[in-house]
Amino acid sequence: MTKKLRYGLIGAGSNAEKKHLSNYLSLPNIELVSICDVNQEHANKIAKKYHVKNIYTSYSDMIDKENLDIVSICTPNSLHTPIAIYALLHGVHVHCEKPLALNAIEAQKIVDAKNKSGKQLMIGLNNRFTNEAVFLKRLIDAGYLGEIYKAKTGWIRRSGIPGRGTWFTNKEVAGGGVMIDLGVHFLDLALYLMGLPEPKYVTGATYQNFHQTATRNRNGYSGNPAGVFNVEDSAAGLLSLQSGAIVHFEFAWASNIENDQTYLEILGTNGGASIINGELKVFSELLDTTVDITPILNPNIKLKNEFEHFVNSIVFAEELSAPAEHGVYMMDIIDRFYVSASMGEPVFFKNKEKRVRIIN
Ligand SMILES: NC(=O)c1ccc[n+]([C@@H]2O[C@H](COP(=O)([O-])OP(=O)(O)OC[C@H]3O[C@@H](n4cnc5c(N)ncnc54)[C@H](O)[C@@H]3O)[C@@H](O)[C@H]2O)c1
Repeated sequence: MTKKLRYGLIGAGSNAEKKHLSNYLSLPNIELVSICDVNQEHANKIAKKYHVKNIYTSYSDMIDKENLDIVSICTPNSLHTPIAIYALLHGVHVHCEKPLALNAIEAQKIVDAKNKSGKQLMIGLNNRFTNEAVFLKRLIDAGYLGEIYKAKTGWIRRSGIPGRGTWFTNKEVAGGGVMIDLGVHFLDLALYLMGLPEPKYVTGATYQNFHQTATRNRNGYSGNPAGVFNVEDSAAGLLSLQSGAIVHFEFAWASNIENDQTYLEILGTNGGASIINGELKVFSELLDTTVDITPILNPNIKLKNEFEHFVNSIVFAEELSAPAEHGVYMMDIIDRFYVSASMGEPVFFKNKEKRVRIIN
């Protein structure tokens, strides 16, 4: 049997436990060595639950002492860049949660560190790894939908602020609101399925309508009424692509709608597809008749496992599906979207070097 990879977790919050720990621990070639969280009490609790002896409150101490092969970064967004760069430059492969960084300038610094280190960095874009997304990507890449000319995507919640007054609603720590939180998942998915096409311009608007109501927190997220709320709770816009295709998008942590929804619709010259609340359908023509196709995807058979895939990229040099470079592409779009929203006019991508948004 090959040597197990020494794995450490940084930021043992809700996402880390639900997503990273359970999945990495299910892999045969991973050894959970250490856990780091600035909240010592929380770190102790998680470490006890997963029988881990090595507990840290400083990520640099953990990386310096534990001779790790892989870390997951599951901290608030503003810490992704310093931690990823430290880990990479100390010889550790990084699985970093989304968004990769607060903006494209930071994301590029991570790519530079990754290239210098020769290590791997994958972004935790789990929506690219659902069976529906993996199958649809195969269909699109095989040409079944023809040329894609339009996409529409959104993730809208009625009461889904991930903790009003926590780090999620603090611009300095989160980088933005719902656009950087949920937008990076579904706008990313639309563009990934379309082959990450070159953008032409983005235009959109942001709104902050629910910062004073105590009723719109996500179920299970209590929030802090005295905390900062200086980000948008909804965002909508349009991304125009160099190919002539367009992508409409809308994201909301809170809105006066009946039901929460995630959706993605992709229209091509030979067929269309939708993933609505996780269900994939394909629309096309057969024998001069329009047809709906519902792929039967067995939930017990994972077409591509995010965690196994990252380990395979390290052990077998499998080409990464969500590399750091895709984070620069997405953060450039998000940066320009925020500039468009603040100026009330479209922002063009002509000048590739001009990264316009700085968090303050
Ligand atoms: N891929 C997904 O579907 C998904 C879902 C939720 C969250 N996320 C991302 O995961 C990250 C964490 O989100 P969360 O919901 O788990 O937040 P959280 O607040 O529940 O957890 C963050 C944890 O990081 C710890 N932390 C803060 N500073 C630290 C430091 N310097 N060193 C070590 N630990 C530190 C906190 O104490 C906390 O336990 C965010 O980037 C978020 O965008 C991704």
